[in-house]
Amino acid sequence: MVAAKGVRGLTAAVCCFVCLVEAIATSDCGRPQGTSPSPPSSGDVIPAWHAVVYDTTDGVGKHICAGALIDAQYVLVAEHCFYGPSGNLRPEADFTVGVGKVSRVLGKEEISSQTRTVKHIHFPQGAGVAHSNDLALLRLNEAVFLNDRVWPICIDWKGDQLPLKNGDKGSMAGFGSGGSLEYFPLRLVGKDLCKKNAIVKESQFCAENDAGPAAGEIDSSCGFAQKSQDRWFLKGVYYKNSKNTNLFSNVTGYVDWMAHIISNAH
Ligand SMILES: *[C@@H]1O[C@H](CO)[C@@H](O)[C@H](O)[C@H]1NC(C)=O
Repeated sequence: MVAAKGVRGLTAAVCCFVCLVEAIATSDCGRPQGTSPSPPSSGDVIPAWHAVVYDTTDGVGKHICAGALIDAQYVLVAEHCFYGPSGNLRPEADFTVGVGKVSRVLGKEEISSQTRTVKHIHFPQGAGVAHSNDLALLRLNEAVFLNDRVWPICIDWKGDQLPLKNGDKGSMAGFGSGGSLEYFPLRLVGKDLCKKNAIVKESQFCAENDAGPAAGEIDSSCGFAQKSQDRWFLKGVYYKNSKNTNLFSNVTGYVDWMAHIISNAH
């Protein structure tokens, strides 16, 4: 047990947490202004929260995973992206994060792409055990500049969004086999149905392809985004494909963990 803090300390901590949640919740998250330049998503909003994690130990940058910008300085990614071949956890210095990328190539100059190094990788409790809490929150070395192609997606900090249910639509944005940024439409599958095809952990949910390419052909760790009124919310992070079922880590269960990390850093 941690020794109890004085009342003032506790109040400050609670206020800090609440103020942060207020600040994020009332900011204009999940509502990027730009529209997508390329099919099949013409007219759709650009997934401006889409981030790319590169392994830069080769001096060039190998694209390893997608991520979702949830704040100007934080990107949510799958935990499994940060292990080496022998199962070792790799250091922050091995990675670079790109945002505003339309091409997956790190060195390709693009109108509004920005790169940052990784200051810290946070893992939730229980991470590393068979990836049953397959999330990692990256703190970037400094905040990215927000513009119409770089914009955070919303997190349901206050828990006032309806939970996902069977048949709900969402989408993932990521680099498909063609190497350019695409949307992959998805439909949520209830756990009972999904358990017939896959082993679904407590912290996961399933979605199937609604149309278009199989999600198995997309980058690992893409976000499952759902539009609610006029904002996009991050609901899941892609774990893997198992027999045509896409498994996602359920972000809802990790909201407090993320809020504490972000508020403690401010
Ligand atoms: C995600 O987790 C929350 C609790 O943290 C739960 O209420 C919700 O039903 C879960 N979502 C899905 C799609 O399983």
